[in-house]
Amino acid sequence: MKASDLEKAYLYAFEESKITQEGKPALFVQCPVPEWALPQETYFATPFYTEAQSWDEKGGVVLSQDTQNIQNTFICAEKNKRATVDALNLAARACVEDASLYFIVPIKMGAKSYAKNLSEYGFEIVQKISKSHCVIFELKKSKGADFKKDIWFENGQGYTVCAGIYGHDKIDQGSALLAKYFTPHLKSPVADFGCGYGYLSDKLLEIHPSAELFACDNDKRAVEACTKNLDKRHEGRQFEVQWCDLRTPPAQRFKTIIMNPPFHEGKAQDVGLGQAFIETAARSLKQNGTLLMVANRHLPYEQILKSCFKRLETLEDAKGFKVIKAQN
Ligand SMILES: C[S@@+](CC[C@H](N)C(=O)[O-])C[C@H]1O[C@@H](n2cnc3c(N)ncnc32)[C@H](O)[C@@H]1O
Repeated sequence: MKASDLEKAYLYAFEESKITQEGKPALFVQCPVPEWALPQETYFATPFYTEAQSWDEKGGVVLSQDTQNIQNTFICAEKNKRATVDALNLAARACVEDASLYFIVPIKMGAKSYAKNLSEYGFEIVQKISKSHCVIFELKKSKGADFKKDIWFENGQGYTVCAGIYGHDKIDQGSALLAKYFTPHLKSPVADFGCGYGYLSDKLLEIHPSAELFACDNDKRAVEACTKNLDKRHEGRQFEVQWCDLRTPPAQRFKTIIMNPPFHEGKAQDVGLGQAFIETAARSLKQNGTLLMVANRHLPYEQILKSCFKRLETLEDAKGFKVIKAQN
């Protein structure tokens, strides 16, 4: 399934809906937006910081809990079905009773099973169009349907999570390896770059309760999950969790940074993103600061690490991961 197929199907649905002529309030959930045809009143919902910023620049309005006047909605399915159903619920709550919802699902992401389940989720199928290896469902809300708000649940490890955030149902093996190197002697303030639901932050504060902690992620759901987990497990400690894009350094500087950088964007491996995290870490450390990071062994980070830091040490090379300490 190529990403462009989903885009093509989305654009087809967008043109079919004729919303630009009608100028009615429209909501876009995780959709590519055609710059040439923004309706007058555009709302958007995305958990990703960078995407939200670019919507903002185009003049869109962030969807709030109180928005209830939406007449047309476009929702692109994502890989995780539960997260997609959460997005459908979010969209439905913002829509007027007879709104049209265009739900675009690649066939390989289970379009057939959505066709069977949509009535159970509270929708009537008005029409179904096959386009570019996707199915476009035009939906109406079923009368009296209840579109649930709460997306949070506890995973098997006792962390509060929601579907769709990184590794919501597991502890990342690399992160577990990295956490073995946390000690009460790590210099504070400490930053957790790409915190996810907060596993590394939690382990850091467990062993080093007096640390001043800053955690951040570009997925808003992860930021909320991390905040919930730290509130629950470390009440009264000093921490701040921020929504940001780490391709740009945050305003603060730190004495220690811990991280398990991302290396996937969708399915394509994006080594550049991990390298950008390393550069940001180097720029965000105070003098004599320390970076503790873990990465899959095969990822080519050595060169960028060498160019950004004075001293490098591999603390462990095991189970396909390398744990690296870098100092400036
Ligand atoms: C490999 S996961 C690690 C998550 C968590 N630290 C753990 O150990 O379970 C990488 C994290 O980086 C986040 N991320 C991806 N791109 C980002 C960006 N540009 N800025 C900030 N965070 C980003 C992802 O949402 C994800 O939570």
